[in-house]
Amino acid sequence: MSTRIEPLHPWSLERLLGRIEQEWAQEKSIFSLAGRRFWQADPDVDLSAVIGGRRVATPVGPAAGPHTQMAQNLALGWLAGARTFELKTVQILDELDIPRPCIDMEHEGYNVEWSQELKLEQSLDEYVKGWLLLAVLRQWEPLRGAIGEPGDHAFELSVGYDLAGIRHERMAALIDGLRQAGPRLDALRAQVGGPFAHLRDVEADPVIVRTATLSTFHGCPPDEIEGIVEHLMTRHGLDVTVKLNPTLLGQEAVAAILHDRLGYTDVPLDAAAFAGDLQWDRALQMIDRLETFARREGREFGLKLTNTLVVQNHRGIMAGDRMYLSGPPLHVLAVELLARLEAALPGRLKLDCAEAGIPVAFSAGVDKDNVADMVGLGLLPVTVCSDLLKPGGYGRMAQGLRSLAKRMKAAKARDLGAWRAHADAQARAAGSASATAFAAARLATPEGFERYTAAAVHDPLRVVDHDLEMFDCAACGNCVTVCPNNAFLSVPTGVKPPLKSRSQYLVLAELCNECGNCTTFCPERGAPWQVKPRLYTDAAVWEARGREGFLMDTNELAGTDPDRTVRLFVGKLPWLR
Ligand SMILES: Cc1cc2nc3c(=O)[nH]c(=O)nc-3n(C[C@H](O)[C@H](O)[C@H](O)COP(=O)(O)O)c2cc1C
Repeated sequence: MSTRIEPLHPWSLERLLGRIEQEWAQEKSIFSLAGRRFWQADPDVDLSAVIGGRRVATPVGPAAGPHTQMAQNLALGWLAGARTFELKTVQILDELDIPRPCIDMEHEGYNVEWSQELKLEQSLDEYVKGWLLLAVLRQWEPLRGAIGEPGDHAFELSVGYDLAGIRHERMAALIDGLRQAGPRLDALRAQVGGPFAHLRDVEADPVIVRTATLSTFHGCPPDEIEGIVEHLMTRHGLDVTVKLNPTLLGQEAVAAILHDRLGYTDVPLDAAAFAGDLQWDRALQMIDRLETFARREGREFGLKLTNTLVVQNHRGIMAGDRMYLSGPPLHVLAVELLARLEAALPGRLKLDCAEAGIPVAFSAGVDKDNVADMVGLGLLPVTVCSDLLKPGGYGRMAQGLRSLAKRMKAAKARDLGAWRAHADAQARAAGSASATAFAAARLATPEGFERYTAAAVHDPLRVVDHDLEMFDCAACGNCVTVCPNNAFLSVPTGVKPPLKSRSQYLVLAELCNECGNCTTFCPERGAPWQVKPRLYTDAAVWEARGREGFLMDTNELAGTDPDRTVRLFVGKLPWLR
């Protein structure tokens, strides 16, 4: 019998909906994201785009990673304006032991994550649950004033890493389950009750995914990429995007940008990663063949730039010899790769103002200040990971969308076609052959790359000279917003001394995978996920974890150290019981 304790224990749809209803009524927030930070469509600009044959209301969403693993994460992205979601990569190995911490976002980003941390069957449940949850929220009248008309959204499957794994019957069952989700959705509808009962039969497309991205990371054999794409197209009827790695630029070009141009001189490259990954000439041949294959099959073949860059672990914050770089420096690398591909495949990529060609998606150091530019290049979708792990969290996506809408309005561009035409006209006026070439050229100038340099990114974080305690702290709220899983709650203190802080913080232990991101951004000394009161809703999980923390049962708090103060706060959160 396995004694493995699963890192994550997702909540039921019923529990999530119960929380949404009460939190919205009491706090005007959902999963701790304040209503004023939701994205509300701007009636003066049309941000919709067609991705994989589906029209979605915005071209932006979370990249595969910690923001797309569980249902509440998907809801948070959606509230912040995401309308396209690259689901957390699934693969056949679903009992991985990921070292902790696994995320280091202090400056440029690093992580040592792999694929989903749930069992495959749980991932299927989460994706179906998230799909139904969004369908319900979309029609839920109390939200109307905060989100307006949300429009359509799409989920995109992400798979790894080799052909045998992807052909495995358990992987096939997951993909089939998402392609024909009717029975699963119907079974879940029983949990849509209480104030949501009238939405129990809400319309939800049983074909949850029409597109898949193949992650060619983690040793995905280059000579299996084509076989995997063909398998996904023919066996599962999916349109397929190949997510490329920045190693495709070659070690010399990467070193020139990362070390010489951007000043990340302390980041040692990993020669083996460059040698083992897909090589440039082979990639171009592969693109030729897959484009032809897809056309013959009546499917769409696309590219995505890029996954993270494997580097040697020089920081010693996470375990292991290697780690994966993301964020600002990756942005410059990925735009350079994009420009090289455009030059090598003239007229064949659906970039800039092109109406046809191989679609290109993007995920590399996108943030609120550059998302509009990336959308202007015709990249679809534009996805974000590292930036959402910084203070402000999911709300940062809504900021990016507001900036896109504002800039479109200033340019009198009413839709994304007009926005791309505007970017193209600007590039040509500056003497560039295309908006993409212009973007890459700009990132080669000091004023263009300055904000992506180590000097700009290595600002020290705020530090408070104090050991973190269970109650009271600087009350900055960072632990709440940087947690991709919504595993932190902030409760207004509202009680008399001895408590001093205006808010107290509680950990929903079943949703915390100990990634360490809260520790990075906590100004005090200590790990909030360990130090703050850890609450459990499931007695079995609490038992398995040696009865640590506090168990919420019907109305009493059990625990190794039941604490009056915790009880007081939990009393303010009736949905927890
Ligand atoms: C913590 C973390 C986990 C990630 N997990 C995955 C994954 O499961 N599958 C995948 O294809 N990419 C994964 N990525 C890569 C992202 O999807 C994205 O391509 C990359 O981080 C670059 O975007 P960014 O600079 O906005 O983070 C992960 C990235 C991070 C930071």
